[in-house]
Amino acid sequence: MSRTEDNARKRSVTLHMVSSLDGFIAKKDNSVSWLDSGSVYEAGVSISQEEAVTFLKTIDCYVLGSRTYEDALELGWPYGDTPAVVVSSREWPLASARKSVEFYSGDLKTLVDAKLAPRYRNIWLVGGAILCQRFLELGLVDQIRLTIAPVLLGEGLRLFSDSLTEERWNLKNVVAYKNGFVELSYSARTA
Ligand SMILES: NC(=O)c1ccc[n+]([C@@H]2O[C@H](COP(=O)([O-])OP(=O)(O)OC[C@H]3O[C@@H](n4cnc5c(N)ncnc54)[C@H](OP(=O)(O)O)[C@@H]3O)[C@@H](O)[C@H]2O)c1
Repeated sequence: MSRTEDNARKRSVTLHMVSSLDGFIAKKDNSVSWLDSGSVYEAGVSISQEEAVTFLKTIDCYVLGSRTYEDALELGWPYGDTPAVVVSSREWPLASARKSVEFYSGDLKTLVDAKLAPRYRNIWLVGGAILCQRFLELGLVDQIRLTIAPVLLGEGLRLFSDSLTEERWNLKNVVAYKNGFVELSYSARTA
């Protein structure tokens, strides 16, 4: 088996999002203070900066929608120099984009199978709602890692819409953090 085929076989797409308790990933005014820790859960764990950096190094590539891209540019680029693919049908000024960023327009299955899988194994889909829903509808997500913030927002942008159909996922891990956030990890059920 060639290296390309081997990578394609082993690629994993992880959908990672932070959601409020009531299922929102952004407020209507796009403010992000709800993501700040507001509570202390003594029994929870905390991770050091060093552990966080080590973990982030395991991610080979990020995939994001163009609205998330625009927000990331405005709020401060959180993906470092790790390759990032922005899905958009628009033309973007390449000269002003970061070196690690490339733009993609077209079929999402082709993006994953033909463009990403031969190059990357640990692919993280990091939003937003529109792109994540499309990936889920197409069955392109292998893992869901959902971090629940200890807050009710009441309104905003929903992560999951009613375009999805019933589908069971396997719970793989639960981590409760000292700041009151809970991380739920699921893997897709293979037929
Ligand atoms: N809480 C969290 O963890 C989290 C994480 C990420 C983002 N967010 C928030 O989520 C919001 C953005 O999410 P969103 O759902 O509005 O937008 P999004 O998913 O980030 O981007 C949607 C855009 O991506 C492009 N796109 C998506 N699917 C495509 C496809 N199949 N082919 C071509 N282009 C495609 C389209 O833009 P074009 O017009 O360019 O074609 C579409 O309008 C922001 O407020 C952001 O801050 C929250």
